[in-house]
Amino acid sequence: MPFTFKRVDFPENFLFGAATAAYQIEGSSFGGAGSSHWDTFAATPGNVLHGASGAIACDHFHRYEEDLDLLKSGGFDAYRFSTNWARVMPDGRGAVNRYGLDFYDRLVEAMMERGIKPYLTLYHWDMPSALADLGGWRNRDVANWFADYSRVVMAKIGDRVAATATINEPWCVAYLSHFLGHHAPGMRDIRATARAMHHVLLAHGTAVNALRADGHKNLGIVLNLSHNEAGEQGPEHAAAKKLEDGLFNDWYLGGVFKGEYPGDVLDGLGAYMPDHWQDDMATISTPTDWLGVNYYTRRLLAHDANALWPHQRDVRGDLPRTDMGWEIYPEGLCKLLTYVERNYTGKLPIFITENGMANADILIDGKCDDFARIDFIDRHLHSVRRAIDAGVNVGGYFCWSLLDNYEWAFGYDKRFGMVHVDYATQKRTPKESWHALKAVLA
Ligand code: FCB
Repeated sequence: MPFTFKRVDFPENFLFGAATAAYQIEGSSFGGAGSSHWDTFAATPGNVLHGASGAIACDHFHRYEEDLDLLKSGGFDAYRFSTNWARVMPDGRGAVNRYGLDFYDRLVEAMMERGIKPYLTLYHWDMPSALADLGGWRNRDVANWFADYSRVVMAKIGDRVAATATINEPWCVAYLSHFLGHHAPGMRDIRATARAMHHVLLAHGTAVNALRADGHKNLGIVLNLSHNEAGEQGPEHAAAKKLEDGLFNDWYLGGVFKGEYPGDVLDGLGAYMPDHWQDDMATISTPTDWLGVNYYTRRLLAHDANALWPHQRDVRGDLPRTDMGWEIYPEGLCKLLTYVERNYTGKLPIFITENGMANADILIDGKCDDFARIDFIDRHLHSVRRAIDAGVNVGGYFCWSLLDNYEWAFGYDKRFGMVHVDYATQKRTPKESWHALKAVLA
C-alpha cells in the first residue's frame, strides 16, 4: 500500500524526519546516567503497565549506528532526538558525566556522517531525581538548573545541530504529571500544577536567553496541541471547550508568543500561582525562531457542574481510534495550524515535531503490514498540505516514531514505530510504513 503524496507536493526544503526521545529508547541503566523521576515513578506499583521502565528500552545507547542507518536508508532528511538530563548531569547540576555527554557528541557526529540533520530536544521528561527531591518543576530554581544544563549540552553539540527545542510538551510536563498524575512525578495537586505550568515556561525562556547569549541559533519549543470541540450543545459546553483550549493550547502559546495567559484559566489557577509571576512574562515570551507542534487527536469536552474546577468531562466521539484509544482526526491538524499561525506565530516556521499512531502491530514471517499507519500518516500529511496552501509556513514533518519504544505509562505494549523492535532480541524490522515512506523519500 503506497502513500498518495510525493516529495514534490511539498515546498522545496520541506523536511521529512522521524522522532524519538532519550528515555524511551536509549536505556537509562548504563552509560553513567543518574536516576530520573521516570525511573522511580516506574518502580512504584500501579504507575506503569507491568512495571516496565526505560532501563534497557531499545538499547539505542549501544545500537545508535544501526538505528541511524535505518534513517539514512529510508531517505529521511532529519532526526528529532533528545538528550537525557540525568545522563549528562547525574545530579541534575554540577558535575557533568563526560561519558554521557560524549555519547551525544558521537550521536550527532554519526548523523552528520549520514547527511541527517539533527533536531535536538533538551528536555523530554527525564528530570534528574536529585532535582525532583528539591521539588522539580514546582521549584522556581528549575529555570536556572535547566538553563545551566542546556548550556552544557549546547557547548558540546550546538555547533552541529540544525535546530534546538528547549522542552517537549509542557502540558504533559505540568498538567498531565501534576494535576492528572499520569506521568512522573505522578502528583495530583492544583498548587503544584499552577507552579509547574509557570515554571516550565520560565525554564524555556531562561534557557533561550542563555543559549542566545552563548551565540546559539534556531531555538524553539515543542508544544502538544489538541483540537477541541464541544461534545454537547449549549453555551456552558462551548465555554468548557474554550477553557480546555486555554488549559491545553493557549496557556503555552500565549505565554511563549504574547507573554500572557488566558483569563479563564487564571480564574481557576490564579490563587495557586507563584508570587509575582507577572514579572516573568517578558522572559517567557522572549522571541523564538520556530515552533514545534505535536498532534495526535481531537477531544470532545462538556461542562460538568458536579465536578471541581475545571468542571469538565470528556465526551466519547465516534471516529475510528488508534491502539491508544485516540480518535483519528487528520482535519484537526490543518485547523490547529491555521489557528496557531493566525493568532500566534505569523510567518515563523512551524514544524510538525510528532505525529503518528500506536497500532497493534505483529510480525508475521518477518513482515509487519501496518497499513493503518500508512493511511494515518498519509491523511495527516494531506492535512499539512492544506495548511501550507492556506499560507501556514510549515517547514517539516517528523513521524513519531522511528522505533517501537517505551510508551511511558503504557510500557512496551503500545507500538508507535515505523520499525518493529523485538525487545527480547533487540532485533529491528522495518514495517510496511517504513518501506512505503522510503519509496517516497529515498
Ligand atoms: C507524546 C510524547 C512522546 C510519545 C507520543 C506518543 O506525547 O512526546 O514521547 O509518547 O506522545
